[in-house]
Amino acid sequence: MSPADFDYIRAYVREQAAIVLEPGKEYLVESRLFTLARKENLASVDALIAKIRAEIGGRGPLHRKVVDAMTTNETSFFRDIHPFDTLRKELLPDLMRRRGADRKLAIWCGAASTGQEPFSVMMLIAEHFPELLKWDFKFVATDLCTEVLARAKAGRFTQLEVNRGLPATHLVKYFTRVGNEWEFKAELRNRVTFQELNLVKEWPPLPMVDIVFLRNVLIYFDVETKRMILGKIGRMLRPGGSLFLGGAETTIGVDDNFQRVVVDKTTCYRLKAAA
Ligand SMILES: C[S@@+](CC[C@H](N)C(=O)[O-])C[C@H]1O[C@@H](n2cnc3c(N)ncnc32)[C@H](O)[C@@H]1O
Repeated sequence: MSPADFDYIRAYVREQAAIVLEPGKEYLVESRLFTLARKENLASVDALIAKIRAEIGGRGPLHRKVVDAMTTNETSFFRDIHPFDTLRKELLPDLMRRRGADRKLAIWCGAASTGQEPFSVMMLIAEHFPELLKWDFKFVATDLCTEVLARAKAGRFTQLEVNRGLPATHLVKYFTRVGNEWEFKAELRNRVTFQELNLVKEWPPLPMVDIVFLRNVLIYFDVETKRMILGKIGRMLRPGGSLFLGGAETTIGVDDNFQRVVVDKTTCYRLKAAA
């Protein structure tokens, strides 16, 4: 791939998704474009780039697929287990006490990838707080990448995916085997609303929420973009609400309205006035 082609791709991906591809990431970009070229039945990355550049106004379907191809969708069930333990032991019991009068609770997962993260929360709720499912309970899960969203909506997982982080008891209880895959129980799957949301563009309307999962995505953005996203989250968190970030992410030095709170073995973030 020529330096000009690399610059074209990285400028487009940065503008569309704020994902920063530094010089030195040529190999990563090329290998992802190679996979896309094969899916598009094109002979080479050069042929793909020629087709991309030929799209009128630079906004055709292949451009969209390039952005999808540059996202890292790594995820697993109950990833970094501690946030889920804290939800079970502390946060959900506390929220259910406080919201008991209006029986309303909402969760947003802002980079849901193929669905393992929201479905882990749903299994935790079904196991330990089934009464919550009778409340006015909303769970919205979003991602920028249409391909992973489609997979999440289908709720189908490979053997390899269910081998990662999912207790065997949960596999038996919440999944059905369909051919070579495992399908997450429709009754729980349908309680999650999946929708497209690009964190760095205009957001569709979202409810006020009690818990936000935004894990392992801020890491790709520059500090201004992180600040903009955290500002929006600050305005949609209900009093006493909590934000979970990935282990390598923090609000510290980015948005002073949040305070780091250590609960049990995990860290979450709360608005200072409400902490
Ligand atoms: C590494 S995965 C993290 C998945 C999950 N949160 C976890 O921690 O296991 C990052 C996800 O962020 C999504 N993403 C990247 N840039 C985004 C953007 N600008 N807006 C929304 N989602 C984005 C990717 O499509 C990908 O699914």
